[in-house]
Amino acid sequence: MSNKIRIILGVVLVVCAICAAGVYYLFTNQNKEVVNMGDKKVLVAYYSYSGNTEAAAKKIQAITGGDLFEIQPKTAYPKDYNAVVSQAQEEKQKGFKPELVDNGDVKDYDIIFLGTPVWWYTMASPVRTFLTKNDFSGKVIAPFCTHGGGGESATYTDMQKLAPDAKVLTGYTSYENSASDKEIRSWINDLNLQGE
Ligand SMILES: Cc1cc2nc3c(=O)[nH]c(=O)nc-3n(C[C@H](O)[C@H](O)[C@H](O)COP(=O)(O)O)c2cc1C
Repeated sequence: MSNKIRIILGVVLVVCAICAAGVYYLFTNQNKEVVNMGDKKVLVAYYSYSGNTEAAAKKIQAITGGDLFEIQPKTAYPKDYNAVVSQAQEEKQKGFKPELVDNGDVKDYDIIFLGTPVWWYTMASPVRTFLTKNDFSGKVIAPFCTHGGGGESATYTDMQKLAPDAKVLTGYTSYENSASDKEIRSWINDLNLQGE
């Protein structure tokens, strides 16, 4: 093999290696970047009974770089599915607001990502408590929920009713555990939060 061919092959190899490294970098880093939230302080608050909403909340937290807060009722809901379903139905009818381990504090935040599973076509009861125990006047709520096939139903409009002085934005709705980084990024970008 002549020297000229060796040099050409060497150059081709180096170019290929640089391209491969670039493609690898793109694939491994495109989901790690934190979305630019300007100077906004972000809280990601959620209640989750069986883990789906928690998984979505953690993805949103990683993407926004906000603080994470789990809304927890003082008395845990029964593990038995039928029992929690009938208890939740009764609580919805009464507008019941269970006591929380910690009511949280939204005072220091501009934007609150607020997540809930859909329970009987609306938010879960502990989220009702969180909304009424905090002062949301002048705050922006970016709501999200996970559901079992019925969609968000009245979840977001009911949130606005419980926090009339907040600005409740378009929500991110996902089925069971299907929330994806890609969808969350696109939802957040469309919300244009730097301008809020
Ligand atoms: C008490 C109860 C009520 C529910 N009501 C609804 C509903 O009205 N519509 C719906 O699509 N899914 C409903 N589901 C399904 C949950 O919304 C769905 O499984 C959700 O992803 C659970 O989130 P989690 O794992 O964060 O608790 C209900 C589940 C429970 C336990």
